[in-house]
Amino acid sequence: AKLNTVAKLAGKKYFGSATDNPELTDTAYVAILDDNTEFGQLTPGNSMKWDATEPTQGTFTFTNGDTIANLAKANGQLLRGHNCVWYNQLPSWVTATNWTAAQLSSIVSTHCGTLVGHYKGQVYSWDVINEPFNDDGTWRTDIFYNTLGTSYVSIALQAARAADPNAKLYVNEYNLESSSAKATAMVNLVKSLQAAGVPIDGIGIQGHLIVGEVPSTFQSTLSQFTALGVEVAITELDIRMTLPSTPALLAQQKTDYQTVIAACKAVAGCVGVTIWDYTDKYSWVPSTFSGQGAACPWDANLVRKPAYDGIALGWTT
Ligand code: G3I
Repeated sequence: AKLNTVAKLAGKKYFGSATDNPELTDTAYVAILDDNTEFGQLTPGNSMKWDATEPTQGTFTFTNGDTIANLAKANGQLLRGHNCVWYNQLPSWVTATNWTAAQLSSIVSTHCGTLVGHYKGQVYSWDVINEPFNDDGTWRTDIFYNTLGTSYVSIALQAARAADPNAKLYVNEYNLESSSAKATAMVNLVKSLQAAGVPIDGIGIQGHLIVGEVPSTFQSTLSQFTALGVEVAITELDIRMTLPSTPALLAQQKTDYQTVIAACKAVAGCVGVTIWDYTDKYSWVPSTFSGQGAACPWDANLVRKPAYDGIALGWTT
């Protein structure tokens, strides 16, 4: 059985993949992506980000995002929206001005409301806030925090809720698996949002991991989050290695994928897992981490690796 099929048999909503518009001209790649027994959910890797959707203030471009939303719809796949507010991939008009708090508040609210509103009814969950924390649990001092303090989070979440009341609203973050300080900061943020009546439905655990280094606390971190009454999802899973890959590394990678999937399976509030593209052909890893790669369950020739079987085992055993 294929990966989304077994994820659903395990009681989850989806097993999915990120994808990106340039890859959609690759017909062999798309043939696998389109298979909703393999992938029950898609996330656009870039085309719903701020630089792609509001490149100049007040001018919204949804063409590429729509392509992926329409692909998911045609394939009968869920869609995760990624993302509304992030320090990275911001158009220069956002960062080049010393906005007042009132101005930036309006900019954030307009961006999130327009973006989420455009996809109203099409998105299962939105990464409304992406990567707000440093690894030590302090707030990332980006333009949003520096101008608005922590209030930018509630401004964005409230705009998103108003724009699409049925979308699950997430805060998404990396190194939550390994940094207890960052995980504690996330717990405290969700508690404070709940206490203030701000809408928050889920925590996204990105899951950019390293072969042989899946934190032993992975499952307990998921449980710590779901105990807050929110759902969790693994949103950007990949497990990289130092190249070249060897049979031993690929075997360890299989085990590591199985461990991560089994953790989601074991935690009732973990709704699904998304891999950050399914093939090494289009992985972001080698361009960011020199000498590393082979992070995905399909190799660069679109052939399944042992990791594929690790994922299937994670859902079925
Ligand atoms: O759009 C330009 C294009 O005009 C230009 O010709 C080309 C030349 O380099 O660059 C293009 O921009 C690239 C962009 O992807 C779109 O393809 C950027 O250089 C490149 O840095 C960017 O990388 C993306 C990265 O986020 C940026 O931070 C990756 O594709 C994307 O997979 C990655 O995804 C992030 C998540 O959003 C958040 N979590 C971490 C994850 C991995 O970094």
